[in-house]
Amino acid sequence: MCGALRASDAGKQAVLMGWVNRRRDLGNLIFIDIRDRTGLTQVVFNKERNPGLHQKAGELRNEYVIAAIGAVKLREPNTINKNIGTGEVELIAEELRILNEAKQPQFLPGDTVLPNEELRLKYRYIDLRRDAMQYNIELRHKVAIAIRDYLSSQGFFEIETPFMTRSTPEGARDYLVPSRVQPGCFYALPQSPQLFKQILMISGFDKYFQIVRCFRDEDFRADRQAEFTQIDLEMSYPQPERVWEVVEGFLTAAFKAGGYQIKTPFLRMSYDEAMRLYGSDKPDMRVPPMTDVREAFTAENLATLGVNPNLPVMTIRIPKVGELSRKERDDIKPLFVSKGRAKLFEDFKRLEKSFPEAAAKIREKTGAQADDLILVVAGDGKPGEHKSAGGVKPEVKQHDHAVYTSAGLLRVALAQKYAAKHGAFVRGDFRFLWVTDFPMFEWDDEGKRWAAAHHPFTSPHDRDMEKLESDPFAVRALAYDVVLNGTELGSGSIRIHRQDIQRKIFHALGLTEEEARARFGFFLEALEYGTPPHGGIALGLDRIVMILAGADSLREVIPFPKTARAVDLMVDAPTPVSEAQLKELGIQVRRPKD
Ligand code: AMO
Repeated sequence: MCGALRASDAGKQAVLMGWVNRRRDLGNLIFIDIRDRTGLTQVVFNKERNPGLHQKAGELRNEYVIAAIGAVKLREPNTINKNIGTGEVELIAEELRILNEAKQPQFLPGDTVLPNEELRLKYRYIDLRRDAMQYNIELRHKVAIAIRDYLSSQGFFEIETPFMTRSTPEGARDYLVPSRVQPGCFYALPQSPQLFKQILMISGFDKYFQIVRCFRDEDFRADRQAEFTQIDLEMSYPQPERVWEVVEGFLTAAFKAGGYQIKTPFLRMSYDEAMRLYGSDKPDMRVPPMTDVREAFTAENLATLGVNPNLPVMTIRIPKVGELSRKERDDIKPLFVSKGRAKLFEDFKRLEKSFPEAAAKIREKTGAQADDLILVVAGDGKPGEHKSAGGVKPEVKQHDHAVYTSAGLLRVALAQKYAAKHGAFVRGDFRFLWVTDFPMFEWDDEGKRWAAAHHPFTSPHDRDMEKLESDPFAVRALAYDVVLNGTELGSGSIRIHRQDIQRKIFHALGLTEEEARARFGFFLEALEYGTPPHGGIALGLDRIVMILAGADSLREVIPFPKTARAVDLMVDAPTPVSEAQLKELGIQVRRPKD
């Protein structure tokens, strides 16, 4: 391989095959760097030694595929390249074969400046030749193998589930596949193997996993793709802790494959605590938590500030940011997005002047240092509005949450903006966390109804069962997320294994008996045939590899990804299909008007 030769190989004959990475023509000497996925070697063509061969080397262009045969020789000491593994040797060419010529691409794998992403995706095969992509794809392979090996060693079977199936309830839109033999009928590509894996528990495969592609038509972002890969698993009879132990085991193996030792068990935190301290269900633990400092202010203070005394008053603290100029403080304002009636006080110094006692208490309560950036986010409004005490109406708790999440989002945005100053975001600092006891339901404002926060097969806590009808917002689920540095890596739950409870949950979700039967009848029936208690989880493989690779988009770790508009620029998909094909499928397309 092109990255294999070392000083100890001097004197041996070698055959190297690969791409022309670079050609330097010094007249009598031509140097070719020949490259494959393992690295590159310098090949030397000497006019005096072999004029014919030298002339042939002169014809080489970037990315030609060649074979070079010759003797391995130690380089002169002053020409040693310490930056590459093969830097102590070169190959003195005795024979050259051009295996294939190459059109000159619009960018080269060795370019230090990357071309725009569209070009990279259109010519993905060139882009994939770059060192960074070769590294990421190899890392992906190693991580997947490590996880497979680990789960297999723990008695899990990898079992495939269908891609052509029915709609699965993960909350996104389905990709549909029309049936030719049953015109008007469609398969749905799975958003996850959720129901199949539960049925595998009913079928007696008590430990299942699958590294599996899932398909979701949703809004695509840097950490979301239309098709992505889950490490999906399910087991019979587990407590949540057993599932966590398995996940911690395979993540340890995966991170080891990426060169990192991680600490287990991971921290654990309830959803309520995560919201209160971080304003997020996926807290980034590298930055200090927030503090509710409502108590630091008197009722008059709050009234003067136009702050609702019934809602939290949150401080955000980002260490080591130092003094900010007026302009820098103004630049913070657009980072604040109010998720309800929340307002921002970005100038703590000013607050300190008007309310010195409150400010002193805040400094004490948050443990703030002189060079820390402190901001306050509070509920907008007068006393009497949005009382949060008691009550079952979802809106009440939502106002608290609006303040928490508005503050939480700003906290993350600031941590990113001032990363260089606080220095908390260093490569290899992995802060894993289990977030537990999610609410069972969330209020769907659009549909004006309760929706399953995880999915409708998640089991409520036993002790909350009687609140299903009376106080749905208070029902906790046996659901958990594994979070890493502010990214949700995976979600799972203990499932409902009894049909009567499953029916109750469908009922609470506003599904009629007929609707439940129509969508999940096969599953409800299966539950009746001796279903063991079971639970599991699924983690995003792409996200794990992205974080391990230090990349900021899933597209850096997926060989052939799609754009934010779900387009594959290389193969140019999706495309219209022929009339004949549509006819065969019994489909008529209404084209958008020009
Ligand atoms: P969930 O929908 O939370 O749970 O998905 C689990 C994990 O899959 C990853 N993920 C994605 N990655 C990239 N692009 C996407 N569009 C995308 N959507 C999800 C995330 C996420 O945490 N059936 C349940 C799991 C269970 O209950 O066992 C499920 O799919 O990393």
